[in-house]
Amino acid sequence: MEQKIKQLLEEARVAIATAGVADLQLVEARLLGRKSPLSEIMAGLGNLSPEERKQVGILINQVKAEITQLLEIKKQEVFTIKQKSATERDTTIPGIKPEVGHLSPLTYINRELVDIFKELGFEVAEGPEAETEQYNFDMLNIPASHPARDEWDTFWLRHEPDGKNNTLLRTHTSPVQIRYMLSHKPPIRIIAPGRTFRFEAEDATHAAVFSQIEGLMIDKNISVAHLKSVLLHFVRRILGDDHDIRLRPSFFPFTEPSFEVDISCGLCKGVGCKGCSNKGWLELMGAGMVHPQVLRNVGIDPNEYSGFAFGGGIERLAMLKYGIDDIRWLLSGDMKFIKQF
Ligand code: PHE
Repeated sequence: MEQKIKQLLEEARVAIATAGVADLQLVEARLLGRKSPLSEIMAGLGNLSPEERKQVGILINQVKAEITQLLEIKKQEVFTIKQKSATERDTTIPGIKPEVGHLSPLTYINRELVDIFKELGFEVAEGPEAETEQYNFDMLNIPASHPARDEWDTFWLRHEPDGKNNTLLRTHTSPVQIRYMLSHKPPIRIIAPGRTFRFEAEDATHAAVFSQIEGLMIDKNISVAHLKSVLLHFVRRILGDDHDIRLRPSFFPFTEPSFEVDISCGLCKGVGCKGCSNKGWLELMGAGMVHPQVLRNVGIDPNEYSGFAFGGGIERLAMLKYGIDDIRWLLSGDMKFIKQF
């Protein structure tokens, strides 16, 4: 038995001395792993007499300690060589794949949206997330006293009673309409995707930080028909040709008439099912013809020009497109979730 163990030590010395970076781990497993000859001898100790058992046990532990030490020295050596020079590097070792980031489904859908509207001649416009009260509300025909302000629960950054310089986190992307119209003359065709904020309790369908996409088209003789055809085209491109839209009367201070845009439920195709609470339709976004007062506010003559605007949540679109049942997934940064897209 002792002879055999010593023989094993000799073999181990040779194996370690000749091992390279590539097979060092394998050699270690072979020498000390659960199925190694040493482990097998250990497992068989019970069959020996107490006296023998003691002797062999001590020897095995010594041999193991020596092998471990040799392996340690070898590892150091191999590792420093690896660090020392690139030319000495063993290029046959498979590399360690670094964990790289992954785009959020929101980014994907955003890119898709932008591409679809670009094809129609729309340009991308941007505005700041920290906005003035004036652009977010007043210029959009929502004065401080207007009850419709309650629709947009606001995170105020500065909120003084008669403050002229009040600021807030924009509650919608509509202020980008104002900014763009103040700096450009019609014809105008823009979309404005971006982050928006509402001081709201969060649940499966509401998030305090979310994204919207705004659309605005101003030219001569623009009508609801243009609005509807652009929206239908966009919905079918992003969600599929088997979708329909409908416009329901609604109210926004900055559009007249105003609509709620519904899409036919993708599950039951408009018949009515659990997914749409038996309505056959799902709310998608707000829209309407730009209010003449808003055009006047930015110096565009409503007798000469008209236009439509629309705006809605991008998360909602992503949820419909990908079948996601909780908006909070989209903002979680959870890699297991994100990697599915
Ligand atoms: N800004 C509105 C909202 O956030 C949506 C909207 C945009 C409605 C443009 C009409 C026109 O609710």
